[in-house]
Amino acid sequence: MASAPRMASVSTSTQTLSEFSSDVVVGLSHPGQKELPSKYLYDEVGSALFDVICLLPEYGLSRAGMRMLERYSGEIVNRVPGPVVVAELGSGSGQQTRWVLEALARRQRVNYYPIDISGSALFRCQQELGQMDMVSIVGFERAYLDGLQEVAARRKDGERLFVLFLGSTIGNFDRPAGDQFLGEVRSILREGDALLLATDLEKPVPGLILAYDDPAGVTAAFNKNLLARINRELGGDFDLNRFEHVVRWDEAERRIEMHLRSTVWQRVTIRHAGVPFHLREGETIWTESSHKYDPREVVQMGERSGYRCAGQWFDTQWPLAQNLFFAV
Ligand SMILES: C[S@@+](CC[C@H](N)C(=O)[O-])C[C@H]1O[C@@H](n2cnc3c(N)ncnc32)[C@H](O)[C@@H]1O
Repeated sequence: MASAPRMASVSTSTQTLSEFSSDVVVGLSHPGQKELPSKYLYDEVGSALFDVICLLPEYGLSRAGMRMLERYSGEIVNRVPGPVVVAELGSGSGQQTRWVLEALARRQRVNYYPIDISGSALFRCQQELGQMDMVSIVGFERAYLDGLQEVAARRKDGERLFVLFLGSTIGNFDRPAGDQFLGEVRSILREGDALLLATDLEKPVPGLILAYDDPAGVTAAFNKNLLARINRELGGDFDLNRFEHVVRWDEAERRIEMHLRSTVWQRVTIRHAGVPFHLREGETIWTESSHKYDPREVVQMGERSGYRCAGQWFDTQWPLAQNLFFAV
């Protein structure tokens, strides 16, 4: 008999305006290269635009993740002995997660804790997965590590934590910061806990550029929405028509970078910040990085951060790896 889906969420205003404002001031005052943290791309509008990006023919990453989890979730889950509780870092709308939860629900009742800084992404996740048999969902509107700590505190003795970090979101971190982040996740886990980490692999650059600069302009809108969000929430006066979406491949760092380029010299004021900012013609604000990996490097990243790799699965159409680690 189907169990009644449990839908709840733990929400507080994790991104306070003063935090947002001070991050914006620090980023726009950064000597040399102005930057804004990518986590602010995901307000209600940004999260909705990201879901559209996942539908774009040019953005193969998300479809590859879905294809792989549909195909391999049974195998992956068999390697993670139960009982387990599932925590997902940056779940977004949770579309890929369905396959993992379905595979687990064949053997046990599943408590699933999506953790996302975006309340609207969590809402969609609960809509997407809230009706699954044998699955209870409690969403945490939190930053990754804060949320994971809360989830870890809820697990019962004898339960293994199975952490999902899908969509190659790890690629938003610089490589050293990625190692550090995996180490911080490890410090919340117990020996034997599992981590499924998706990593986008290196591939020909023209296709990668198109994935982040699609002809329909959806990714450009996603990027520019960060300035629109600053206008809405912090009383900014960014004129979006004076910025262009720019995507670059950095060969040395093996990453895609998303920037917003000022097309003119301009002065911007942000009421909450209290100080004006100036941008030169051609100057950019760096908004997101997406690092690309080779499979061996991912195993080493895990090993440096306190895990052993128990399996890697690959997609051939859009090179992507699902990497299963255990905390050691
Ligand atoms: C690239 S999307 C990936 C979504 C989903 N995992 C997928 O693969 O389609 C990244 C998600 O992480 C969330 N996120 C970004 N930074 C975060 C942070 N510091 N703490 C918690 N969630 C964060 C965003 O709101 C967004 O939903």
